Amino acid sequence: MVAAALDPGSAPVGLLYILSFSLFIYGIRLGTHPTTARRGNGIAAIGMAVAVATTLALQGIGNWWVIIVGIAVGTAIGAVASKRVQMTGMPQMVALYNGLGGGAIALIAWAEYRHWIVEDFGVPADELIPTLLAMVIGSISFWGSNVAFGKLQELIPSQPLKVPGQQVINALLLVGLIAACVYLGISNGPGELNEPIFILCLVGAAVLGVMVVMPIGGADMPVVISLLNAFTGLSAAAAGIALDNTALIVGGTLVGSSGTILTLEMANAMNRSVPNILFAGFGSAGGGPVASGEERPYRSMNAQDAAIQLAYADSVVIVPGYGLAVAQAQHAVREMADELESKGVKVSYAIHPVAGRMPGHMNVLLAEADVPYEQLREMDEINPELPQTDVCVVIGANDVTNPAAKTDEESPIYGMPIIEVDEAQQVLVLKRSMSPGFAGIDNDLFYHPKTAMVFGDAKATVSEIVSELGNL
Ligand code: TAP
Repeated sequence: MVAAALDPGSAPVGLLYILSFSLFIYGIRLGTHPTTARRGNGIAAIGMAVAVATTLALQGIGNWWVIIVGIAVGTAIGAVASKRVQMTGMPQMVALYNGLGGGAIALIAWAEYRHWIVEDFGVPADELIPTLLAMVIGSISFWGSNVAFGKLQELIPSQPLKVPGQQVINALLLVGLIAACVYLGISNGPGELNEPIFILCLVGAAVLGVMVVMPIGGADMPVVISLLNAFTGLSAAAAGIALDNTALIVGGTLVGSSGTILTLEMANAMNRSVPNILFAGFGSAGGGPVASGEERPYRSMNAQDAAIQLAYADSVVIVPGYGLAVAQAQHAVREMADELESKGVKVSYAIHPVAGRMPGHMNVLLAEADVPYEQLREMDEINPELPQTDVCVVIGANDVTNPAAKTDEESPIYGMPIIEVDEAQQVLVLKRSMSPGFAGIDNDLFYHPKTAMVFGDAKATVSEIVSELGNL
């Protein structure tokens, strides 16, 4: 088969790896803006192709049939899955991909360790320590991500699942793992017990991964997935150090640091701390704090009246939320905005950082419907303009508009920044019922005298408003 030729320590390999991670970094840079994000993704993918091709060309790479079959099967499954996945299914897709990365790193660590044992020599500490780290963190990430996937895909219950003494068991597992790794470090060599203890560590880390993610509610999963993503990055960087592979070190560090930043940003935007998300068991679909259930008067309106109110406004701000994504209403919303603009109404979209269920969810959805990017306004930028806005149309959003976040210290979302829809002159809320959103709490906005509820599926309601606007 192909004769692999490059010396891993040679200048061409170094240059190709530098090229590959420069492309990763440039790709991430482009990913910071929706208009360039797609190109950024493509450029980072080229960087990955360069890194993979360079690695395959290194001396000592063998088993070509296994490699070819692996690449063919992986590419086929990845391509079909990526084409078929719905936007609302993206978090679990990311969980699955991330878990596979962690699992692969754990297996690489195991293979490296076996190779040393078979060769019968002690391992230099600067290779052994990162290998043990890669094994433990990779295994935690693989199993934790699989549980996250299972919860989001509803293969396992999304409610927090706890066993008595969970935190104590987790702490004991962690201490046991550290002790076993220290033992492997000290008894570094071909000792008979070493590989069984290594495998025990793999299993212990797997149990820890499952135990840490099981008690977390399904709706908090995006934050957990982002954290596990950071873990996978760290394990990849550790494996890169053990294998002396620059692309893996830099790629892993990029994933580790960006995953950590994203986790902190998401937690901040929800006004929660990462420990609170990991240990509080909030975010369950139905398991969190519940709506009061108390009957309070509210006003409702049909699509025809909503269309009239919108057509006579000077300025309209659309506030998209998770329900818009569920209903796949983005194209209908764009049509509604076009109709309004043709009547001289100024239209903008207010984007809350955690509207929906994953970072950038609303930006991606609206970009898919070709909403002009200038119309998308960040929360901090649009809030001061809301008192002068004639009508705010809240479409499938709930928590991100809840005034309790500003006023009710008892509320679980107290302190979370919101789109201050209650400051606008008039408010239309498009959703199917008075049910609560992700946080499971009532929203006073819905009972405010200036608010009218327009009940129905977001796509159906918006489409109806579009046809009514056409008749005006
Ligand atoms: P939510 O508070 O979850 O509210 C969504 C609303 O959409 C629900 O009240 C639901 O009401 C409505 N809905 C569902 N399907 C619909 C359909 N087909 N048509 C019309 N309406 C529909 O959403 P949000 O305001 O976007 O807030 C996001 C929440 O997710 C926040 O609490 C945030 O902290 C959390 N979260 C976000 C992220 C990220 S990064 N985005 C990550 C983790 C958690 P009905 O059932 O009555 O229709």
